[in-house]
Amino acid sequence: MKEVVLGLLGLGNIGGGVWDLIREFGEETAKRTGIRLRVKKALVLDKRIHGGKEVPYEVLTTDRNDILEDPEIQIVCEFLGGEQPAASWMLRALENGKSVVTANKMALSLHFDELRAMAQKTGAGLYYEASVGGAIPIINAIQSPLISNHIEQIMGIVNGTTNYILTRMAAEGAEYETVLKDAQRLGLAEPNPTADVEGYDAQYKLSILGSIGFHTRVNVDDVYREGITKINSEDISFGREMGYVLKLLAIGKDNGNSIEVRVHPVFLPENHPLARVDGSLNAVYLYGHSFKDMMLEGRGAGDAPTASAIVGDIIQAAQNAVHPMPYMQENPKPVADDWQSRYFIRMKAKDEPGVLAEVTGKMAKDGISVSAMMQKDADPDGRATLIFITHLASEKAVQRVVKALNPEICQVENVIRVES
Ligand code: HSE
Repeated sequence: MKEVVLGLLGLGNIGGGVWDLIREFGEETAKRTGIRLRVKKALVLDKRIHGGKEVPYEVLTTDRNDILEDPEIQIVCEFLGGEQPAASWMLRALENGKSVVTANKMALSLHFDELRAMAQKTGAGLYYEASVGGAIPIINAIQSPLISNHIEQIMGIVNGTTNYILTRMAAEGAEYETVLKDAQRLGLAEPNPTADVEGYDAQYKLSILGSIGFHTRVNVDDVYREGITKINSEDISFGREMGYVLKLLAIGKDNGNSIEVRVHPVFLPENHPLARVDGSLNAVYLYGHSFKDMMLEGRGAGDAPTASAIVGDIIQAAQNAVHPMPYMQENPKPVADDWQSRYFIRMKAKDEPGVLAEVTGKMAKDGISVSAMMQKDADPDGRATLIFITHLASEKAVQRVVKALNPEICQVENVIRVES
């Protein structure tokens, strides 16, 4: 039996989950893999508080160097979260030849190049399955069993908090603020929800998925980002009447000479596999030239699901004689600043002659064709709701038209992309 010595940077929710999984299932994992995991040190802020886990006192340390500089420790698991000091400490561990396992999408996506370069230099491994989609083995799937594919499309529900909020808004006809407050009360959304609801979390994750899926470096800033805070219950219910379900998606497309990477709310046809992924579940839908389409679905957060992915990475790091490193083409593919989508455009307008002419006239001038239209009776102030669904159109053209519409005639309340 081979023993592998670990150091844990952090023993909070995820670190504690990993500790528990090794303690409870380590023997069985050892029987299956021939690898016994031993946690030598776990970094904590205060040795008296360590998440209530039964961790022997001698395992606890408040000095990171007890982990980063100990030659006996072979694998460092990083559970600090945030960009720094996580990124520098991972870099140091790699510099010292230790493999690193992390769930930290922020530090990883922002410092991917340095971390990969250091791992390559010292021959250490860098594993990050838990950074996207929690327990779902999406990173491994892209890098190993699906490696002989040209992946053309990645579409993911990679943020459980926003999926939970949108699912409840759809089920209850409730407004965003109400559901958010309830989710916060239930501990399902953070007290400061910005990273989730404004799409930053999904942006980091798409930077990672896009980089490994398209073999071209996708920087975080390359990813267009829009959150769910402007969505209201009318968008969701009118969308549903027209056969669509609203999701926050991370979308990556490889168009050959350029890529598209964007995070924003999307209407999906109700029969799309991602449309039925509800609650806090995550799912990633892929299209590759050889396997065609595929969807992986599961739990994207939580101590135990995340620990499942992390222990899987630890075992791989221990088993691999040569650590895999994603191939990146030398010259990154340019990121398209315009793309084709269909659009759901919701507006209010007085119910009188000339409104449709104003809208469709401006659309026609910019090459935008309407595929479906719905009008709802005027509300007490005399304004009707109009919904247009366009055929495929350029993002820039749609934004131009929305700006050009005469606000005296119609007021655009929301524009949501429609994908299929
Ligand atoms: N905050 C994330 C989510 C989980 O809501 O899915 C961690 O990536």
